Amino acid sequence: MAEEQGQRDDGGGVATAQDTLSVTDNRTGESFELEITEGTVKAMDFRQMKVSEDDFGLMTYDPAFTNTASCRSSICYIDGDAGVLEYRGYPIDQLCEKSTYLEVAYLLIYGELPTRDQLDEWVFEITHHTYVHENIKKFVEGFRYDAHPMGMLLAAVGALSTFYPDAKKIDDQVERHMAAVRMIAKMPTLAAFAYRHNLGLPYVYPDNDLSYPGNFLSMMFKMTEVQYEPDPRLEKALDVLWILHADHEQNCSTNAVRAVGSSEVDPYSAVAAGVAALYGPLHGGANEAVLRMLERIESTDNIPDFLEGVKKREEKLMGFGHRVYKNYDPRAAIIKEHVDAVFEVTGKNSKLDIAVELEKHALDDEYFVERKLYPNVDFYSGLIYEALNLPPDMFTVMFAIPRTSGWVAQWDEMEQDEETKIARPRQIYTGARERDYEDIAERDGKAKAPNSPQGFTAPVDPSKGAPSGG
Ligand code: CMC
Repeated sequence: MAEEQGQRDDGGGVATAQDTLSVTDNRTGESFELEITEGTVKAMDFRQMKVSEDDFGLMTYDPAFTNTASCRSSICYIDGDAGVLEYRGYPIDQLCEKSTYLEVAYLLIYGELPTRDQLDEWVFEITHHTYVHENIKKFVEGFRYDAHPMGMLLAAVGALSTFYPDAKKIDDQVERHMAAVRMIAKMPTLAAFAYRHNLGLPYVYPDNDLSYPGNFLSMMFKMTEVQYEPDPRLEKALDVLWILHADHEQNCSTNAVRAVGSSEVDPYSAVAAGVAALYGPLHGGANEAVLRMLERIESTDNIPDFLEGVKKREEKLMGFGHRVYKNYDPRAAIIKEHVDAVFEVTGKNSKLDIAVELEKHALDDEYFVERKLYPNVDFYSGLIYEALNLPPDMFTVMFAIPRTSGWVAQWDEMEQDEETKIARPRQIYTGARERDYEDIAERDGKAKAPNSPQGFTAPVDPSKGAPSGG
């Protein structure tokens, strides 16, 4: 949007009067002219606004970064009102139709589509780094049989940093490249190991003769056959899903990767932070929630009642709505086109009928129209994962595999950005000040501090009255 305003002043030139914001601090009556660049004002420009010489200066308050640009980036462009998503300027639908996930990963990281030679070399490199050290295998084997696969993935990605200590040379371009290759190559291997660990099945080693998604299917589902032959329709559907999930600018997990990476830790540790953020139900877990919702609805006959419940705020229509998209999420439209291809292979799933009918009803309903609520990326993706026979615990893992290229691209961009400093927000302090320390004997018997965290008090046993020392 900022670019559309045509008011850019990145050359360090003097901004015109229209490119400024006049602010009057009514506490002092002083006025300030703040420069507007690329649709933003700098938060640090407010620091000069003080009520006295020793005043710290004005800060901005934005707890969820809802209106704060934390970086400048040229990787992913979203226009939420128009339903537009582009990677490095290329529309997502063209990439899904004509490209492959590995080519898109190259585009995200290196900024341009590769030549034939560059692509061949990139695919060769990724294919030949899919194996993990045998000790990583033992590491995964150490988890309990029912460990959550995202927990295993998170730990295993962090553990990779101990196998590649040179990755901490983050100013070395070769090391940065190798970390990108290794993470993209090994993430499907770690994901498949976690899946087979839960099932008690032997892990399947990567097969270099298969495509990137084909190899993943092999590591997941190969049993006694000499070579697993992936169905090309499933390979294509998976590849498209992975293109769609590869990047989405400054979302929660990408922000985590950048924030942790800004401490100059190695990229494996920074990406482990991204996996941890994605694990949370408000981020990577919505696809699973859609599936549970469709199960609850049970039949298309129950849709009107279900939607009435949503309108009464008894529940949410999962897979609908988005903080940025106020139009049809372009990713949802593309996934929907591929659902049929997957069901052709796996057999039809009655939940698809419910999902399609539910979407129709919602898009016709004033409640959803008024609020600009449309299907998002998670509305149909869970159906594909279920059709592939994946347990719901694996759904977020399926998101983490492709998002790795986005995390790596964003980490690399952050590392090379001259404006990067360690991420270190300010706070508004709301606690007590300058209290004198009291000896424990004097504290005894006094009332508990009102904000003591509950977990710090001894559990109450009703038969024994209130716990002592509370
Ligand atoms: N079902 C019913 N009502 C909804 C929904 C929904 N899914 N989403 C938003 N609304 C209503 C909301 O109640 C509010 O109504 P009102 O103005 O009357 O109070 C209005 O629409 C605006 O919603 P909001 O909560 O202010 O919007 P937000 O930007 O804070 O939340 C969201 C975005 C994605 C968290 C939310 O739409 C939601 O919870 N959706 C369901 C969960 C989901 O599908 N999440 C996946 C997001 S896509 C994956 C990704 O990119 O990370």
